[in-house]
Amino acid sequence: MKSINFKDLKSPLFIAWQINSVCNLECLHCCEEAGQSIPGEMNREEIFNFLKQVVNLHIPYVALSGGEPLLHPYFFSICEFLRKDNISLKVETNGEFIDEEKAKKIAQLRFRSVQVSLDGATAYSHERLRLRGNWNKVVSSLRILIKEGVNTEIVFVPTKFNIGEIGQLIDLAYSLGVYGVYTGKIMRIGRAAQNWEILCPSEKDYEYFFKSLNEKIAHYDGRMKVYYYPYDVLEELKYRLKFPAASLLVLPNGKVKLIGPLPFICGDLKKDTLEQVWENYKKAWQNPKVIKFAKEVIAQPRLLAEANRWREI
Ligand SMILES: C[S@@+](CC[C@H](N)C(=O)[O-])C[C@H]1O[C@@H](n2cnc3c(N)ncnc32)[C@H](O)[C@@H]1O
Repeated sequence: MKSINFKDLKSPLFIAWQINSVCNLECLHCCEEAGQSIPGEMNREEIFNFLKQVVNLHIPYVALSGGEPLLHPYFFSICEFLRKDNISLKVETNGEFIDEEKAKKIAQLRFRSVQVSLDGATAYSHERLRLRGNWNKVVSSLRILIKEGVNTEIVFVPTKFNIGEIGQLIDLAYSLGVYGVYTGKIMRIGRAAQNWEILCPSEKDYEYFFKSLNEKIAHYDGRMKVYYYPYDVLEELKYRLKFPAASLLVLPNGKVKLIGPLPFICGDLKKDTLEQVWENYKKAWQNPKVIKFAKEVIAQPRLLAEANRWREI
């Protein structure tokens, strides 16, 4: 069978959309540097204009993130709009705003998954990383979502503070009844780049981490899904230079980023149609400026700190 080249696609297969930048937390590792809203976030009309195009182009899968997506005033209207056309929907949340009523709504909308960030098996390490976070509240939200039958996953980001807790966290996840636990190496982007020296696990930490993960994968086989992305952000970038993803990363202001670790913006959904942005995206991967800077980042990883200083191409 002939494999599909992303260039032949008329539209992306996946959209990762940061619907806002507002967050109640100030995570030390936040790749988005979330906290306050940013100037020019899309208004209701711009949001629904974008959503209509997503539906008309039959894009199969959308992930909503932020900021904290549950703080967005149109969060449920956005979800309802996408789900009425049966678009597969994942939501990434810090789990601080889920109550029974919201969990019931989410269950009715039949999301593909709700990914809740839990960065520790203990309140101590979770809250040390997720400033102003409340571990007990997140665990109680997980229970509520599971009780309502929502396909619920835990996402764990390893840092020096919490990496030793991975085994305990997976056991906790199983006792709660989550569908799966997802993890991978911390990305050196945003506040994680600023706090890299205090956060980045050592090689030895990672050795222990992947060994524990593989043991737990075997232990929970057939009972709970435990999975991880094995590559770091630079390995991913190297790969994407050859094989770009068939996906777009949409920012709260409607600008579209080429890929997380690079600062390049390849379109603006307030001005351009989604189809135009997709064509720009495909061309941008051939742009010598992009290729040159990507190679510089790969050679000098500290340049990853530029990832959120957006540059138009
Ligand atoms: C930026 S958060 C936004 C959604 C929500 N506020 C939350 O905390 O989950 C989306 C996902 O990215 C993960 N994340 C944040 N910073 C990261 C980093 N530096 N490396 C890897 N994952 C990161 C979070 O743990 C979360 O699972």
